[in-house]
Amino acid sequence: MRLFKKKRTPSHKAYAVVTGAGSGIGRSFSLELARRGGEVICADINLAAAEETVKLIQAETGQKAYAIVCDVGDKTAVQALSEQAEKVLNHPVTLLINNAGVGLGGKFDEVSLDDWQWCMHVNLWGVIHGCHFFVPKFKKQGYGAIINVASAAGYTAAPEMTAYNVTKSSVLALSETLSAELYPDNIRVNVLCPTLVPTNIMKNGRLPKQYSGKADDLLQNHAFVTSDQVAQKTLNNLDAGKLYTIPQPDAKLFWLMKRASPALYAKMLGMGYPLFKKFVK
Ligand SMILES: NC(=O)c1ccc[n+]([C@@H]2O[C@H](COP(=O)([O-])OP(=O)(O)OC[C@H]3O[C@@H](n4cnc5c(N)ncnc54)[C@H](O)[C@@H]3O)[C@@H](O)[C@H]2O)c1
Repeated sequence: MRLFKKKRTPSHKAYAVVTGAGSGIGRSFSLELARRGGEVICADINLAAAEETVKLIQAETGQKAYAIVCDVGDKTAVQALSEQAEKVLNHPVTLLINNAGVGLGGKFDEVSLDDWQWCMHVNLWGVIHGCHFFVPKFKKQGYGAIINVASAAGYTAAPEMTAYNVTKSSVLALSETLSAELYPDNIRVNVLCPTLVPTNIMKNGRLPKQYSGKADDLLQNHAFVTSDQVAQKTLNNLDAGKLYTIPQPDAKLFWLMKRASPALYAKMLGMGYPLFKKFVK
């Protein structure tokens, strides 16, 4: 079946699995997919939050949606999700959104290895698990689409976010590689790299006490976009066959600066870091 080659609108009438669907960007993706006529499996480690998203979808769109509990860092749970999804939807999954993620900040030498593992478990292994269990199914059915939620942190290299940056640059590399490798299999990939989006990521994350309030204030009150706008833009980019979604002007500026002169960018970042610390203290 050559679904996307004939009609490249994988976000419309999708049979989708969205991870981290109980809040923020994942909830926005789930709602937007339902608005586009899709059926959505809302997977989250927090079942009550996923159920709330399902209620919102049904109230607004009347579309079918289902809540499933899943810790994306647990390979057995993601394998079960991949098998259960098809049965619950009564249709092969056509779109996977690896969105679940957590925030972690702090100086490199002050972040514990347990926190590193927690961050890698969700942000990196969660995406690897999703791709690992769904790609063979997409290959078998002859089509499929994947959106991986990375972050501008995947290329900005902002200080005191080492673990988070490492997970997101890995998701970026994974997505770029899969985009090329899976192109002949009619499997489309988009990777989302936003800067600030007002969600619960700071409240749910692990940040040094002195930063957490200010970081959340920055997120809630100084973002250029809403999570709904980010979800819409990403789905439109997927439909247009684009690999990257860099949704805000500041994310685009960092992207261009880093590519134009990586060495100059690193120097400016190092010089700007003490100023930034004064601003957030
Ligand atoms: N908000 C931002 O500024 C921003 C910027 C760049 C990238 N992102 C990325 O966007 C994605 C979504 O984050 P958000 O901002 O909506 O945060 P959020 O905290 O509002 O939502 C994250 C959701 O993921 C779920 N989750 C956490 N651990 C999980 C696990 N192990 N298994 C399954 N679900 C789990 C949470 O329960 C929550 O519902 C993340 O990957 C994040 O890194 C966010």
